[in-house]
Amino acid sequence: MEVNLFIFIPVVFAAGIGAGIATGIFLANKASVRKKECVTIGASTVSGRGAFALKKISDGDIIERCPALEVTDKDIGGELLNYVFYGSNESARLVVMGNGMLFNHSSTPNVAYYREESALGPELVLYALRNIRKGEELFYSYGDEWWSTRQ
Ligand SMILES: C[S@@+](CC[C@H](N)C(=O)[O-])C[C@H]1O[C@@H](n2cnc3c(N)ncnc32)[C@H](O)[C@@H]1O
Repeated sequence: MEVNLFIFIPVVFAAGIGAGIATGIFLANKASVRKKECVTIGASTVSGRGAFALKKISDGDIIERCPALEVTDKDIGGELLNYVFYGSNESARLVVMGNGMLFNHSSTPNVAYYREESALGPELVLYALRNIRKGEELFYSYGDEWWSTRQ
């Protein structure tokens, strides 16, 4: 069988370019996901584990979007009580995933958070309250009520 080189060569050439572009897009997406990570967990300066800046973070930057699960206070007991957030009503509690549950408290925090409803469910969005140096421990405030309700 005779191969028509006028068709075969451009088809192989186009397939090669297409595969190259697809690989480039895949690698670029992977790199940008990695680039966004700016938190690591390590030994805290105040208690147990804590969250630390992996790189310089600027005032107002979003540090992490944490997927969250809203449950009721009946679902939460024991030590888990010290890890969950208040939810959308008095008896609701928010279980925050990612690194979000491991930040320690400071009354002069460098991080704050707000809740956002995404198409897939609630998220807790952590953002910087000031410029943060690489290696600094990250703290949000648990609020006065949190400490007054515990020993
Ligand atoms: C959400 S956890 C934080 C992560 C925790 N350090 C760990 O190792 O799993 C909350 C607990 O951390 C501790 N903690 C957080 N901030 C603290 C602080 N500023 N001083 C002392 N203990 C703190 C308290 O024991 C609290 O119950």
